[in-house]
Amino acid sequence: MRRTVILAVAAVLSPYSLLAQQAPPSSNPHHPMTLPAPVNLKVLPKDISSKELMTIMRGYSQALGVHCNFCHVINEQTHHPDFTSDEKTEKNTARTMITMNNEINNKYLSQIHDPDAAPDQKTVTCGTCHRGHSMPVTYKPPPEREGPPHGGMGHPDTPAKP
Ligand code: HEC
Ligand code: HEC
Repeated sequence: MRRTVILAVAAVLSPYSLLAQQAPPSSNPHHPMTLPAPVNLKVLPKDISSKELMTIMRGYSQALGVHCNFCHVINEQTHHPDFTSDEKTEKNTARTMITMNNEINNKYLSQIHDPDAAPDQKTVTCGTCHRGHSMPVTYKPPPEREGPPHGGMGHPDTPAKP
């Protein structure tokens, strides 16, 4: 059964207002903080609750240091985001990223059995690479110190201790 949540924000999002007109009268009370049920999920589980979806979306925004409109197009007439639209390339890039991220965890990290790793160290998230930036920052190692390297890298010719 599809949940039809009709609310103030839904009324201004064209695809949803269309749904709202076609749907039979809803017995659901108004939940102003809830968004309409998603209708265009291609990689996330289709039966995800609106609450879970919002937690995930807030997580993406934080991990990339962006607002929702980084991935979701703003409707020029209503000035509200059209979450269902796939117009922005960033949204489709994010889909590829979600699939990549899942594959890293499921296919590769699942093979690593490291008893020292805490649960959050065993998984890659958007934040692992993005760290609050929409484009991951290139890692630059600290400048090398003068002189020969220290720390057990003995010269091969060093005579063994008697
Ligand atoms: C980094 C990109 C990104 C950011 C930032 C982002 N989203 Fe999304 N959002 C997506 C992607 C990708 C999907 C589609 C997922 C899929 O296809 O399974 C989506 C889907 C949705 C949907 C479902 C639309 C539908 O009808 O299927 C809603 C609602 C939504 N996002 C709300 C938000 C809100 C609210 C924010 C800000 C708090 C936000 N998003 C931030 C990438 C993003
Ligand atoms: C393994 C590292 C890694 C992980 C994990 C990762 N990303 Fe990315 N992401 C990248 C790299 C590298 C780029 C730049 C790709 C390019 O521009 O060619 C990128 C680019 C992006 C972009 C496009 C940014 C722009 O300015 O156009 C989006 C959106 C994005 N990632 C979303 C996500 C989301 C959402 C997640 C979590 C589901 C995620 N990424 C996880 C490495 C990662």
